[in-house]
Amino acid sequence: MPKIVLTDVTKRWGDFYAVDHLDLVIDDCSFVTLLGPSGCGKTTTLRMIAGLETPTSGRIEIGDTVVFDSERGINVPANKRHVGFLFQNYALWPNMTVYQNISFGLKNLKKYTKQEIDEIVQRVARVVKIEMFLDRYPSELSGGQQQRVAIARTLAPEPEVIFMDEPLSNLDAKLRLEMRSELQRLHLTTGRTFVYVTHDQMEAMTLATKICLIENGVLQQYDPPLDVYGKPNNLFVADFVGSPSINFIDAKGGQNTAGEMEFDILGGHAAKFSFTSQVNIGEWKAKEDAADAEREALKAERAKVKGYVEKGNKDKVFDYPVALVEDVERPEPAADDYVIGVRPEMIEIREDGGIEAEVYSAMPTGMETTVRLRIGNFILTGVVFGGVTYEIGARVHIGFKKSGLMLFDRLNGRLIGNGGLEV
Ligand SMILES: Nc1ncnc2c1ncn2[C@@H]1O[C@H](COP(=O)(O)OP(=O)(O)O)[C@@H](O)[C@H]1O
Ligand SMILES: [Mg+2]
Repeated sequence: MPKIVLTDVTKRWGDFYAVDHLDLVIDDCSFVTLLGPSGCGKTTTLRMIAGLETPTSGRIEIGDTVVFDSERGINVPANKRHVGFLFQNYALWPNMTVYQNISFGLKNLKKYTKQEIDEIVQRVARVVKIEMFLDRYPSELSGGQQQRVAIARTLAPEPEVIFMDEPLSNLDAKLRLEMRSELQRLHLTTGRTFVYVTHDQMEAMTLATKICLIENGVLQQYDPPLDVYGKPNNLFVADFVGSPSINFIDAKGGQNTAGEMEFDILGGHAAKFSFTSQVNIGEWKAKEDAADAEREALKAERAKVKGYVEKGNKDKVFDYPVALVEDVERPEPAADDYVIGVRPEMIEIREDGGIEAEVYSAMPTGMETTVRLRIGNFILTGVVFGGVTYEIGARVHIGFKKSGLMLFDRLNGRLIGNGGLEV
């Protein structure tokens, strides 16, 4: 069945690499979201798989068929790839009824009888719950209902893979939430492979079986949502997913003989980071350096190939945000600089917490309260569940969870490991 395999796929315009040597395997029946900031290459990736954009180089397989191979000169046209689309600006024919809108594409295929078409229209209309609107015109439907018609139209020719490019971004927040849940059901009932583009991390997190997170054309991580959340490959990924955003704490220090990292954090507080599974920091760095050298060698190899073009949109280590009361210049990173990643729910406000903080702001939503905590010039954001009220300016003590925090290398921005922080 249609497992999709991308091998070393690149798309560039001039020296701008929209997609940079992408390897990706999309399993049959999965729901993969392509996630990343605007302009990172999501749509381009989707369009290349669908056959609407020709890669500069690489190979794409859908099921047992090679649909694109730059070396062998294969390029199967979009209409022969058995894929369906749903775009952000789906346009329904205003002069056709819902029934006609759904059946229009099927009639063009010329492979169904009138009765078969009728059965298909009734079935897909039932799936997306618009069977009562079949005789209406699009102008007689709400935005959400129009969206359902567009989905029904996509499903009608029974594509094996369904591509969606930000299909919900024109809907209001409440409807978007509802449609998300419908899409999840739809994925289940149709049993098809869904590839879904979004820049909304919450949408990607809640829908996907796997998230493919891209930045500057480069794949950053391809994992199930909770792994992306809990074990982000690097600072960029950590920052991109999660709301409120993760806290980054600069930490200076090194590993003691017991394997713990002894740090100085938040302007003079001693802290100990203990790895959940043991990491030898010297060995970790050596391994990373070796991997970097290998990547450099590969780049040098590529540069020798005729027609090579150097990437104009250079890749940079992510400049992670640190929340401060007053902006100060941060010193250049050194080898003993690390960054601790703390999700808001990993901060504990408790009497025996080792760091004193001041409540800077508190925003209760009823279900939870987002609390900003000031420690000297630093601000950390915590989330406390339940209806707790905090007085602005109150003195509290904070500590951290014993697992689930992340330690990153500041020089290369990569995840070293998970662990807990004692202060
Ligand atoms: N036809 C084109 N010519 C030149 N640059 C393009 C073209 N299409 C897209 N790009 C650029 O490629 C990058 C990736 O675009 P796209 O895949 O649409 O991003 P997104 O992740 O927002 O969907 C963007 O910077 C865009 O400007
Ligand atoms: Mg796009």
